[in-house]
Amino acid sequence: MAAAGLRFDGRVVLVTGAGGGLGRAYALAFAERGASVVVNDLGGDFKGYGKSSSAADKVVDEIRAKGGKAVPNYDSVEDGEKLVKTALEAFGRIDIVINNAGILRDRSFVRISDEDWDIIHRIHLRGSFLVTRAAWNHMKNQKFGRIIMTSSAAGIYGNFGQANYSAAKLGLLGLANTIAIEGRKYNIHCNTIAPTAGSRLTQTVMPQDLVDAFKPEYVAPLVVWLCHESCAENGSLFEVGAGWIGKLRWERSLGAIVRGKNQPMTPEAVRDKWEKVCDFDNASKPRTIQESISVLSDALSQIESQGNVSMNATRSVVSSSVDTTGIVGRELATNVYTYTHLEPILYALGVGMSTKDPDHLKFLFEGNEEFCCLPSFGVIPAQTSMFDGVPSLPGLNIDLAKMLHGEQYLELYKPLPTSGQLTSVSTVADILDKGSGAVLLIDVNTYCGKELVCYNQFSLFFVGAGGFGGKRTSEKAKLTANPPKRPPDAVISDVTTPDQAALYRLSGDWNPLHLDPSFAALGGFKKPILHGLCTFGFAARNVLKQFADNDVNRFKAIKVRFAKPVYPGQTLQTEMWKEGNRIHFQTKIKETGEVAIAGGYVDIVPALAKPAQEPLMTEGLQSNLVFEEIGRRVKEMGNELVKKVNAIFQWDITKDGKTAMQWTIDLKNGSGAVYQGPARSSADTTFTLSDEDFMDVVQQKINPQKAFFSGKLKVKGNIMLSQKLEMILKDYAKL
Ligand code: NAI
Repeated sequence: MAAAGLRFDGRVVLVTGAGGGLGRAYALAFAERGASVVVNDLGGDFKGYGKSSSAADKVVDEIRAKGGKAVPNYDSVEDGEKLVKTALEAFGRIDIVINNAGILRDRSFVRISDEDWDIIHRIHLRGSFLVTRAAWNHMKNQKFGRIIMTSSAAGIYGNFGQANYSAAKLGLLGLANTIAIEGRKYNIHCNTIAPTAGSRLTQTVMPQDLVDAFKPEYVAPLVVWLCHESCAENGSLFEVGAGWIGKLRWERSLGAIVRGKNQPMTPEAVRDKWEKVCDFDNASKPRTIQESISVLSDALSQIESQGNVSMNATRSVVSSSVDTTGIVGRELATNVYTYTHLEPILYALGVGMSTKDPDHLKFLFEGNEEFCCLPSFGVIPAQTSMFDGVPSLPGLNIDLAKMLHGEQYLELYKPLPTSGQLTSVSTVADILDKGSGAVLLIDVNTYCGKELVCYNQFSLFFVGAGGFGGKRTSEKAKLTANPPKRPPDAVISDVTTPDQAALYRLSGDWNPLHLDPSFAALGGFKKPILHGLCTFGFAARNVLKQFADNDVNRFKAIKVRFAKPVYPGQTLQTEMWKEGNRIHFQTKIKETGEVAIAGGYVDIVPALAKPAQEPLMTEGLQSNLVFEEIGRRVKEMGNELVKKVNAIFQWDITKDGKTAMQWTIDLKNGSGAVYQGPARSSADTTFTLSDEDFMDVVQQKINPQKAFFSGKLKVKGNIMLSQKLEMILKDYAKL
């Protein structure tokens, strides 16, 4: 009788209610695959009256006749311990419990007697609890256990006349959900099935041909699989019958926030948002209680942040019927920013630089031989372009009181010129629906001539503009990063002056919120607040000084989230942690202990290790020409390539076995870039190959796959992305 495949030799299985129907099919199936089976059955009728040993005995005989191992047990599942004792006495262990025993006491809801309610709960729910609890410690000690709970479609969906049964059956799912969590670390898995099969229970409600067609044998294989040691499934629910199996999960609508900060929550607001509450477009499928609850803390912080932080003159609201397809990807504006050395100096003063610090002179004095521009100045030309653009978006209704500057990302591709003309092009990278508001992600590329010098991403929160059925997250969003859980490696304090905002605004942010008390009061602030980007500038220059020696060439990128407003005159504490080339930071307000900038980081470029390294042999490399050509192409059609490729490729070109040159093709950030040297942020894929092999690949003398398999081309990181290389390389065959 031995069946090959999934075997249960040495395993002991207890099947409750195995004297007939589904339970019998399970017992036979496990025995056939080598398990020792305890066939439990009280032997009463389908309503739970009476008892007899014959039901269990018959199945035990059947198994033994086929050469299998089985013992009977005639106790009720309410005597859970006794069932498990039978397993231990007969076979010495217990590995698998199938909670299957059950009866029916169907009545319309109001006619259910106390007894009918209680007995259904006692047999189905309490019985499953008692049997499982009796087996638990044995499973735990042996670090193996498989448990099945038997629920029912009547519980999942409800069924006329089965209120008691539905309640108990869905109760089993709740029990299984928690057992699955508690058992996981001991390799105890618990899953739930809702079967449909012809049996004496269904005979009364199903026509005979269906009773015959829905064989218990069409359910048993699922139970057998779920209980095998090789099955990792845990905490799941399946419907099964007729040879079909489906898995169920919870789905939850995006939902809606129905209260405002410092406002009571009213039933009317619930009514008004009802459609949104019940709208399953963009629904989520929470799998854990943590996932479920996270939306609540999101909601809390969204409500709390209303009216908290702002920096800007252009505040607007997205109308509730936004057609985002028409907005995402749209170019907002092109703006030319012309400046002399005055602007970088004014900006440096605005973010707290002072001649008191001799280090600062190179940012404050145009006559200094190292005169340069603070990297964070990169937000200044960009913001003008962005704010020129936002008001002209279709579907946006300008409302000067509803915009918060949520987050900021800035990446530099080369040091900013100290004077000149910068052209910034802003586009809508994405628009997100956060329920209580909408988030606009605006990408701004800033060029000096044709050369991309920096890229900004503004993340703007529009209070009250959510709920238009959009997505919650975007792969285009630059994300903040939490600092390590240890005391900071460095802390720098700066006392801002009462005129800090008055000074900073001269760099081009004219929002009266930062100067005019009555305007600030309108926004809910007790006095004018400092610009978020001013605090950002303080933090950026502190990191630059502390970890990059004030060398602007080494400042690669910065990301911040504005968490709380700062008032001019307060003391900023920039706390910094170094983790490789990433400097995590947060800015606290000393007077209150509040975190004003959260999740911040600066990526720095390591200082050039000068003497130790052998000079790169860049001379005579043919690949240089190709990369330069690719660079030209990226300049022309970078935007398009970034959309298609969205990856950073680093190339280590070797000559005579040594790295002779490194190139990076960045088709992820801004409108792309090609530059010498390693990737400034981390590369998705790094290729290593010789100059000659590179040329062979480019000229299609050898295809990249072949080069890879023959060991000529080495690939680190995401190999799949190399398939996109063709888009970049194919046009150079003729070189
Ligand atoms: P069944 O009546 O053929 O099998 C149930 C077995 O449990 C019987 O042999 C009965 O004697 C035994 N039993 C009853 N009370 C017991 C107790 N206190 N202690 C020990 N054994 C006891 O019915 P069927 O259809 O095989 O049902 C098996 C399980 O599947 C039940 O839990 C039932 O609620 C569930 N189920 C069945 C569906 C179906 O379509 N057959 C649909 C949904 C759920």
